[in-house]
Amino acid sequence: MNSIQIDAEKCSVCSSCIKDCPNSFLFLEDGMIRTYEGSCMECGHCYAICPQNAITMTNYECMDEATVPMTEIDSETLLEAMRSRRTIRQFKPDPVEEEKILKILEAGRYSPTGANKQSVSYTILGSRQDEAEEICVNLFRKGKKLGSPFASFLKRFEITDNFFFKGAPLVIVVSSKSTVDGGLASSYMELMAESMGLGVLYSGFFVMCSKMSRKLKKILDLEKGEEVVTCMVIGYPRVKYQRIVPRRDLTVKKL
Ligand SMILES: Cc1cc2nc3c(=O)[nH]c(=O)nc-3n(C[C@H](O)[C@H](O)[C@H](O)COP(=O)(O)O)c2cc1C
Repeated sequence: MNSIQIDAEKCSVCSSCIKDCPNSFLFLEDGMIRTYEGSCMECGHCYAICPQNAITMTNYECMDEATVPMTEIDSETLLEAMRSRRTIRQFKPDPVEEEKILKILEAGRYSPTGANKQSVSYTILGSRQDEAEEICVNLFRKGKKLGSPFASFLKRFEITDNFFFKGAPLVIVVSSKSTVDGGLASSYMELMAESMGLGVLYSGFFVMCSKMSRKLKKILDLEKGEEVVTCMVIGYPRVKYQRIVPRRDLTVKKL
């Protein structure tokens, strides 16, 4: 079935859907809006913009939910909160509430993806978190003994049993075929987590291990072509930062 259905009785032929469609999937013919055969990328712009709610996305449940503009969020507060953000490496053991986990995942779900592929997946390590951490710890402990430049970098660190997840109660591994899409989803999720009082550590070390360890790959059970983009270690911060740290000057090229 066509991915877009237009209810001719509701449609006022205002053409706003045609103007906003990024893929020229809609056209005007004999005073009616029509679609080309087949599937579009199902971005939903036509559905979202239609003043008559005349469009249905056939592969989705269309709930006619009202939009909330980002302008509802005070930009000054948002910017200062972003400037205050810190990586958290000291966590309380308190679990993250289910409804907060769902909100974090929902933020990822609504992040933009190239061509609306929506092919980012989320693995909550849950019951296998300790096992996954142990695999990483063993890998790094072995790595320390090698003569590589990475081994000498690791020499400074004591690879404790909770070196990777810092005792945090929640770890979400974000995987995708597109590192850009996975990164964007992670960024949305991070902001959502922080807005609910949680702290986040991106564990690049875990991502590194996920590329090296067969055992870890088995736990993560990724699809063909998918790779781990980020590993988000999440929990309630045990620390509070007192001030915003300075940053380097921006590099902005105005051409
Ligand atoms: C993609 C990515 C991977 C990271 N990996 C690690 C990591 O494995 N271990 C760690 O302690 N910090 C990690 N960090 C945190 C950075 O070291 C941190 O962003 C940096 O120290 C600056 O501190 P801030 O985030 O508080 O501004 C990572 C951050 C990013 C964005």
